Amino acid sequence: MELIKIEGGKSLKGTVKIDSAKNSTVALIPAAILAESPVTLENIPQIVDVKRLGEMIGQLGGHYRYDGDGNEDFIIDSTGIENVPLLDGPVTKLRASYYFLGALLAKFKEVKIGMPGGCYLGPRPIDLHLKGFEALGATVEQDAGVIHMKAERLKGAKIYLDFPSVGATINIMIAASKAEGTTVIENAAKEPEIVDLSNLLNNMGANIRGAGTGEIRIQGVDRLMGTRHAIIPDRIEAGTYIALAAAAAEEVKIDNIIPHHLEALISKLQEMGVDIEVNTDSVTVRGKKTIKAVDFKTSIYPGLATDLQQPLVTLLTQAEGIGKVEDTIYSDRFRNCYELNKMGADIDVVGRTAIINGGKSMRGARVMATDLRAGASLVIAALIADGVTEIGNTYHIDRGYANIEEKLTNLGAKIWRETVEA
Ligand code: UD1
Repeated sequence: MELIKIEGGKSLKGTVKIDSAKNSTVALIPAAILAESPVTLENIPQIVDVKRLGEMIGQLGGHYRYDGDGNEDFIIDSTGIENVPLLDGPVTKLRASYYFLGALLAKFKEVKIGMPGGCYLGPRPIDLHLKGFEALGATVEQDAGVIHMKAERLKGAKIYLDFPSVGATINIMIAASKAEGTTVIENAAKEPEIVDLSNLLNNMGANIRGAGTGEIRIQGVDRLMGTRHAIIPDRIEAGTYIALAAAAAEEVKIDNIIPHHLEALISKLQEMGVDIEVNTDSVTVRGKKTIKAVDFKTSIYPGLATDLQQPLVTLLTQAEGIGKVEDTIYSDRFRNCYELNKMGADIDVVGRTAIINGGKSMRGARVMATDLRAGASLVIAALIADGVTEIGNTYHIDRGYANIEEKLTNLGAKIWRETVEA
């Protein structure tokens, strides 16, 4: 078993450069297979999910390669792609593999794919995606974990989402970009990653208006062509390093970000008393001040992202007073709290709510990353704990945080990996 080990107590200082957004990238890669010539994604994040999506393109008979001095470009050539069923292997390892549903349906009018994997955060149905595809004219069959969709033709439709699901909005946008006529998605998700996808598809020749608002209009086109696209910065990686700096830094600049995407987090931290200076494309956090407990609820964008809830819970263990956190998006996203309690935290979880009794000293322990952002919350706890913390299930962390050892070592942390007997 591989462990990330961290010796806590170091005061962090310096600059950390944020990578491109994972949740954009994992939608952009499947969308790129609709282009009839290569698509180059600039500043690709060096995370495991990208490799897995690349492998899926390989399974389909397409090609991908890294380019540039630091492998920062990712080039997807889908000219040889065939409609091969994606039943096992990488498809089961990440949630975003479901974007191949929309992409292959648009390209071939038929798709067969295994159910997507990813973090367990409570039940994560994809009924809204499937209803959207049905509205566009597809028939959907599900059998033994395999989804099979077929359409004579895809025809634009008016689709109202019961909940503004990020994944369903993206999947319908991808499929509708090549449907006949106009599709209108009402109650669409507004996350920045949706705007990023819209920009890529429009540069490929699609006709999408309204991304970033609750109503997205997609006028289908016959053909899409290759392009170059610069991916937006990762607001969740940025938010994680901001929370980390608030907990463990003397002074850290979080660079290459769009602060506007992080407004809800920044105001919440200011309410806690964190010293945070906002600039055009960076923020600087000066830690070590007394911080006070706050309550918050996660919500859809522009509210406080559920993905930042777990890193913030770790910060609340250091605040004065009692903080109450409700996750309105996922029903089971508090499994990190049990691990934090092993390190000295005092957190009660009741249903979708965590009650954090702050001001606790943390100590090193062996803990498990139960999902990706749980991993981030444990890394933050380890940085402020006395002694050495050993974090297992490192593969979760590697799905979303590129070069985490290098980035933290550059800030003065003591972090390394070791493989031990399980
Ligand atoms: C995306 C992000 C994830 C983030 C989440 C919410 C990616 C790859 N992942 O996940 O990091 O935490 O947005 O911001 O971009 N739901 C249904 N039926 C559906 C679809 C969703 O009931 O068909 C429910 C989900 O179970 C969940 C809620 O809606 O409770 C939000 O899901 P959604 O916005 O779709 O999140 P994901 O796209 O899965």
